[in-house]
Amino acid sequence: MKEKIFIEGGKRLSGSIPISGAKNSCLTLMPASLLSEGALTLNNVPNLSDVDTMKELLESLGCVVCHQKINKTLHLKQSDEPLLLADYEIVKKMRASILVLGPLLARFGQAVVALPGGCAIGARPVNLHLMALEALGASFSIENGYVKGNVAKTLKGSKINFPFESVGATANTIMAAVLAKGTSELVNVAREPEIVDLCKCLKSMGCKIEGEGERTIIIEGVDNLKEATHNVVMDRIELGTFLIAGAISNSDLELTGGNITMLENFVNKLYEVGIEVCQSESNIRVRRIDSASINCTNVLTEPFPGFPTDLQAQMMALLSLADGVSSIEEQIFENRFMHVPELIRMGANIEISGRKATISGVDRLRGAQVKATDLRASVSLVLAALAAEGQTEIDKIHHIDRGYEDIIKKLADCGAQIKRY
Ligand code: EPU
Repeated sequence: MKEKIFIEGGKRLSGSIPISGAKNSCLTLMPASLLSEGALTLNNVPNLSDVDTMKELLESLGCVVCHQKINKTLHLKQSDEPLLLADYEIVKKMRASILVLGPLLARFGQAVVALPGGCAIGARPVNLHLMALEALGASFSIENGYVKGNVAKTLKGSKINFPFESVGATANTIMAAVLAKGTSELVNVAREPEIVDLCKCLKSMGCKIEGEGERTIIIEGVDNLKEATHNVVMDRIELGTFLIAGAISNSDLELTGGNITMLENFVNKLYEVGIEVCQSESNIRVRRIDSASINCTNVLTEPFPGFPTDLQAQMMALLSLADGVSSIEEQIFENRFMHVPELIRMGANIEISGRKATISGVDRLRGAQVKATDLRASVSLVLAALAAEGQTEIDKIHHIDRGYEDIIKKLADCGAQIKRY
């Protein structure tokens, strides 16, 4: 696979970019197929390497997966005699692999899943996942880097208070509780649109769930689930990324298939820095209010509906070019500033102190050789390169394939000078 992207910056973009289905929704919906005797069909599935990795993992568990990439459909059917071991060789590629734990325990009463370990953005433990599944009646031991889970008879509904909102722990617990005996009350759950999408899909499979998108979710367990078809929600992080692409390159871009109501806090921040985002029935348009300048601001990343951590790196690229001094405080992950040294190589003026970055805006960024370290860091470099003077070469670009479908083509179709080699 070609590992580098080359961008000649400073070009205005024009045209229309389609928004794909959400990566993080797909990675949660695919394991949900383990819960059911019936098949699950997902539409609007993006073509991403993380989706391929989840497919590989599910197949290793005995699931039959058919991915029709041309029409963006995934058909998943779990076998009645599954393999219950999620191997480290697959799990280490993608932390979302832990999302098979809840469904396997709920349906088959056993699971052995490799511990995902830390990654480039933080330690990312799974203690909340285990705490909640234990409250539903599972027991765990950790042996040789694997979590071994067991359910004596059946999972039982329970009241679970999460100490803080975790997207993954919420998803795993919901997927376990839908097949538990009795009622579960999950308090202080994540309210992300991808959780709402998971619940919508589970309901179409026959689950009884109330309160998704709110702080408390009530689930009444059922005995078994049925065949279903679900359309994956749009990728709000991809949408936010392309809104910044329009803003940073001072372009008038049109985005289709998206919905800004899932990005209210982020869109308000864009407005504060002088970027107008207008939603109509058919599209979203983004442009600078004053084409000459971007204002500074202060950003705090928070769980939904706050400013998303998954748009922090992209926002930092934009604020690198603002008038004045901005700050970004990363409250979700302890190490999500790996893009900063690379942005500095392009001429940005950023200082980090703990979880806070102070960004003193510069007049221009300049193309440089930089390297991607994780998914959102890599796309922040693409955004910076679109605005920079001269040529930028971004290495280790496989990170971007995990979460941005056809990004090179989408930007090139709008006039960006971008190619992969
Ligand atoms: N945490 C714990 N214990 C746990 C679970 C989480 O301490 O048991 C901590 C994490 O270490 C982190 C915070 O809680 O500091 C929030 O983590 P969360 O569980 O909410 O994140 P996640 O489920 O691992 C998902 C997305 C991430 C996104 C976060 C936050 C998927 C597959 N991943 O991760 O997406 O940043 O929620 O919104 O849904 C990305 O797409 O680039 C990405 C990293």
